[in-house]
Amino acid sequence: MAPLSDKGRKLLVPSEDPGIEFLEIKPGDVPIYVESGAADLGITGTDVLREANPDVLEPLELDFGQCRLAVAAPAGAAYPALPGGITPRLATKYPRLAREHFAAQGRAVEIIEVGGSVEVAPLLGLSHWIVDLVDTGNTLKANGLVEHETILLVRATLIANRASQKLKLDRHLEVMRRLEGTA
Ligand code: PRP
Repeated sequence: MAPLSDKGRKLLVPSEDPGIEFLEIKPGDVPIYVESGAADLGITGTDVLREANPDVLEPLELDFGQCRLAVAAPAGAAYPALPGGITPRLATKYPRLAREHFAAQGRAVEIIEVGGSVEVAPLLGLSHWIVDLVDTGNTLKANGLVEHETILLVRATLIANRASQKLKLDRHLEVMRRLEGTA
């Protein structure tokens, strides 16, 4: 059996275990596959999970993918409020988490949803601030942005379809043991 890294453009990949197939999809699509039962188990980030809020189990936190969802603004720009009481425009792939964060503090913001490359938005005047994932901080720095507030600590998480976890508990536990490196 060819290793997973040699799978080419095939998106549904058999494993050495005939009972397990791997499905390669975007992190944001993992919740719908697992919630619907199209996939039994999935791995995605807590950013995606808290934004989409799917009805799935989260049986195992994984030891990779650690980063944070943060608010950033151009270096030297006024923060946490704009002069003249202007409502800040905020670009993000995470409208729900951004809205909840600011609403909880009673701070008004206008959310502008974008699909990626969020850091460019303040450079071109689309937004005043951004909410995006930060790991090393290099992307913020390269685009003249400064991190101000953390909204969420993020990590990779195993999620499971509720019915599948009941019906196939032994298989689920085996996968979890392997992911933990104990099988
Ligand atoms: C992610 C994230 C930031 C960057 C943060 O982008 O959205 O842009 O990584 O990493 P850093 O702090 O180490 O620089 P990704 O490359 O996943 O692409 P995206 O812009 O399409 O989200």
